[in-house]
Amino acid sequence: MTEWDRAAQAWIEAQGTQGDFSRRRVLDPPMLARVYGFAPAHLLDLGCGEGRFCRLLAGKVGTLVGLDPSAALLTRASELGGARFVQGRAEALPFADGSFDMVVAYLSLLDIEGIEAALDEVVRVLRPGGRFLIANLTGFATASDIKSGGWRMLPDGGREIVVRRYLEPHPVPAEWRGIAVTNWHRPLSFYMRQLLQRGMVLTHFDEPAVPDPQDLKEEAYNNAPYQVMMEWQAAG
Ligand SMILES: C[S@@+](CC[C@H](N)C(=O)[O-])C[C@H]1O[C@@H](n2cnc3c(N)ncnc32)[C@H](O)[C@@H]1O
Repeated sequence: MTEWDRAAQAWIEAQGTQGDFSRRRVLDPPMLARVYGFAPAHLLDLGCGEGRFCRLLAGKVGTLVGLDPSAALLTRASELGGARFVQGRAEALPFADGSFDMVVAYLSLLDIEGIEAALDEVVRVLRPGGRFLIANLTGFATASDIKSGGWRMLPDGGREIVVRRYLEPHPVPAEWRGIAVTNWHRPLSFYMRQLLQRGMVLTHFDEPAVPDPQDLKEEAYNNAPYQVMMEWQAAG
């Protein structure tokens, strides 16, 4: 049983049907736009969780496969449908070389322990010229010191955090809304170097904002964005 199996019920409740704030308001529109812009025939959602992003894509791209190690999350994903769901780990993908036009890692790279093996596997299962679309937490978010109170909002919507050991990859215990899992902090330079070393070419980069912020919480998000998006093209 994985940490994510133990957290599954709380995670499913936190996501609801529409996804949490970061997904619904910040990441879904630009992530969907990148997928539709590339129009993949075969897409893998790596670390698909309870399958929400696959359900958003269902019927709009060719074949969809969601992969996750958590049996509990995959049970929920299969109940709701929308894709073929496969149990497995990113570090050893049960797919042939060149099987996918696009691999999506939607807020899952920070949960994958064996990141270097996982990136080797992503490159292996992508066809030449295929795309790797990533949404991840920023390095300053994963390196922020939760013990010092996490992110504090200031009266003008600015935010204060304490960042430690930014340049050093390390595990971080993360706990919110009854979910307790290990995140893996890695600086942005780590991901950039690892993907460049594998011959990948950056085709898109963004730190997406909340469009048209409605309140101080949304303004605070835009003062210190929490997520980064990248799309990389496989050689060939
Ligand atoms: C934060 S959740 C994101 C789920 C989904 N992509 C979403 O955005 O809602 C991270 C997911 O990564 C999965 N995960 C953890 N370790 C993994 C691994 N080694 N390989 C693939 N997925 C993994 C977890 O089981 C969990 O479902």
